[in-house]
Amino acid sequence: MNYYPDEIIEEVRLNNDLVEVVSEYIRLERKGGGYFGLCPFHSEKTPSFHVEPVKQFYYCFGCNNGGNVYHFIMNIENLTFPDALRLLADRAGIVLPEPDNREEQEKIRLRKSILDINRAAARFFFSCLAAEKGKEALKYLHNRGLSNRIIKRFGIGYAPNEWDLLSNFLLKEGFDESILIQSGLAIKNKYDKLIDRFRGRIMFPIFDIRGNIVAFGGRVMDDSLPKYINSPETPCYSKGRELFGMHIAKKSREKKLLIVEGYMDVISLHQAGIDFAVAPLGTALTSMQGRMLKKYSDEIILAYDSDTAGQKATERGLEVLNNLDCRVRVLQIPDGKDPDDFIRKNGPEKFKMLIERAISLLEYKISLLKNMHSPDNEESKLKFLNGVADLLTKQENFLEREIIIRKISRNYNITEDAIHAEVERRLKQKQRKEKTTEFYSAKKELKGSVKTYKVGKNEGVRVRYEKMLLALLCRENQLYHKVVNRYEPSDFCDENLRKMAGVLYDKLGTGNDFLLEEYISKLAPEIASSIIHVSKTLSNIDEPEKALEDILQKLEVLKLEEEKKDILMRLKNISNVEEKKQLQKQLQSIIRKIANV
Ligand code: UTP
Ligand code: MN
Repeated sequence: MNYYPDEIIEEVRLNNDLVEVVSEYIRLERKGGGYFGLCPFHSEKTPSFHVEPVKQFYYCFGCNNGGNVYHFIMNIENLTFPDALRLLADRAGIVLPEPDNREEQEKIRLRKSILDINRAAARFFFSCLAAEKGKEALKYLHNRGLSNRIIKRFGIGYAPNEWDLLSNFLLKEGFDESILIQSGLAIKNKYDKLIDRFRGRIMFPIFDIRGNIVAFGGRVMDDSLPKYINSPETPCYSKGRELFGMHIAKKSREKKLLIVEGYMDVISLHQAGIDFAVAPLGTALTSMQGRMLKKYSDEIILAYDSDTAGQKATERGLEVLNNLDCRVRVLQIPDGKDPDDFIRKNGPEKFKMLIERAISLLEYKISLLKNMHSPDNEESKLKFLNGVADLLTKQENFLEREIIIRKISRNYNITEDAIHAEVERRLKQKQRKEKTTEFYSAKKELKGSVKTYKVGKNEGVRVRYEKMLLALLCRENQLYHKVVNRYEPSDFCDENLRKMAGVLYDKLGTGNDFLLEEYISKLAPEIASSIIHVSKTLSNIDEPEKALEDILQKLEVLKLEEEKKDILMRLKNISNVEEKKQLQKQLQSIIRKIANV
């Protein structure tokens, strides 16, 4: 399972602080010596997901998912171990050596070849734009107000309207047919002939955050459909992971990011000096993109079109970003225009004013409410005000709540006191409700944990005690000498535990430390979870020596009882008198031993 040296696995782990990594996915709050948050692996209302900063473990008391940073990434990103390792190495800026596994090497080579061929293709498209056959395309771009400088900065190019110009060029450059297809640059037509995917289109390279070209978008130059053709998903490209323009925007001096809908909006904004604009690639904002946005900015401004599709996208984006605990504002462009149109008509300065005037999430929701119930008659005005009161109860920031109350009071001729009173009344009502549901959900969760505990019991009492023994030894290495002669690795009846015990005893026997944090990197997520579980239950033991004695005695009895069972079985099937006597003697001695323990 591990194709990389242990030291590398450990170096990558140590360079990815679990608290930081988890915080990119959920909101954690400090409590006592650790951090708590809502578990990302099951749905819950009260936080039972715990991160231990010193040990670098996480564990959920609700669903028993636990492990170190590798298990977290494998679980949340649904990755294999090598892929999780690569992701975390990237995150920490660690360059991995070649893996000693054929399949993994092949994967890496394929990714590299696709990036290489994309770069060659982008150069080709760029040179075509400058050539005679690109004249029309260049004119189109100039007509849309793009300068040569911005064309170059975004590497915009042109794919001439011929069947296999690019394919032939790439084959001549030495790329294999298979890479042409796997990169998505070429496809096989029904006569099994290689043809270019992009023909007669303006080409926009899509860069990942590090500046690799991972895909292309190609636009027609008239009104024909489809307007854009995009690269398919490849081992280098997944559209939900990338943001167009991010490789430039991340270097912006502004600590904000502006989200717009399309390639052309991004490019047009950058030309206008707004170099922090990015766009998702024709899909709704994903939480992966949200995390990237959060990492590179203090504030995110949504500037989608104001048509219905844009409004839907805004609401969806707000939800995603809100769940990630980002600071978000919404920019509204007058007259249903997109940012590109607006800038071309009104100039960059006017657009910068719109950025400054971008409204908060709460104000945005109030504006939606206003569209729904225009407050021109008493009845819909009341609906509107009730809606506002409802939104205000969810607003945690008192200052913002106060500002809104003042505004509403002024605009709708209603006293601030009345609004305050209504919000208070709703808050009290909500608290009462929450208390009862909290009670029920706590009860439910308790029942849930009892159930999993029972499932754990079915694995056999002995395995449970074996886990406890290992967990205790991991924490109290000095107890090793008391254990080694009484319960050996070969005594462990669970195969995984037997392996772990082998490593643990070896290390401790040779005077080395054993770090559970390190060791569990190599365990499958389920096993890691259950080991962490046991180590958690053992976390507050005052007298480890006494605990050890209890565990060892229990294990000894269990072992003897199994031997006893075994002998009783054999006695049933034996007729030879001598052998029977022998076994009965053994049985007596076991029974005596059990009594002694
Ligand atoms: P738009 O239609 O707003 O495109 O689609 P645009 O980038 O503003 O282009 P212009 O101004 O009309 O030239 C927004 C985004 O949706 C995706 C593209 O990522 C585009 O930038 N899209 C749109 C597609 O992938 N395919 C399509 O056919 C249309
Ligand atoms: Mn547009």
